[in-house]
Amino acid sequence: MTENPYVIDEMISAKAIAARIEELSRDIKREFRDTDKLVVVGLLRGSFVFIADLVRELDMPIEVDFLEASSYGDQTESSREVRILKDLRGAIEGRDVLVVEDIVDTGFTLSHVTNLLMSRSPARMRTIALLDKPSRREVDIRADWIGFEIPDEFVVGYGIDFAQRDRNLPFIGKVRFLSEQDA
Ligand code: IMP
Ligand code: MG
Repeated sequence: MTENPYVIDEMISAKAIAARIEELSRDIKREFRDTDKLVVVGLLRGSFVFIADLVRELDMPIEVDFLEASSYGDQTESSREVRILKDLRGAIEGRDVLVVEDIVDTGFTLSHVTNLLMSRSPARMRTIALLDKPSRREVDIRADWIGFEIPDEFVVGYGIDFAQRDRNLPFIGKVRFLSEQDA
């Protein structure tokens, strides 16, 4: 199979992301100020950089757990079918939970995961997504906190991949396929 060549144009700088996370962390701390020990749940793999930066702004007692749900294959279209590939290690019944997602696109992933976790009777559950693509929504769901609203573009970096590549970019970039441009 031939590679589909693309370039990455910076969309959100590392500095802008850091500033936004500082703002969001203030809201989160206010929301959970009466919580003994917040369970911060990262959705693998795309949220791993975001959750790492976010929890370091939360100077309060927390636990970190991870859940892996599959939605995308190695393509740029959602499969609509969400499977749990790796479940939480800990129980969340009666706990306060913050679900951390990289992008809400069609909404299938966040909707499936929040339904699943709500069935385990947490005391309170809130959601945060670094990026939101509202124009792509197919399920009526919105994260409680959103880092940035973005247009319908395929993005990479800061934990987010294209076919497992580019997760290590420190910024969010927009993928521009060269074949499209040349066509
Ligand atoms: P949803 O179920 O359609 O909302 O898809 C959410 C998941 O799709 C996100 O957690 C991402 O992993 C992936 N995704 C959505 N948009 C993009 C993108 O622009 N780049 C890379 N992954 C994306
Ligand atoms: Mg994801």
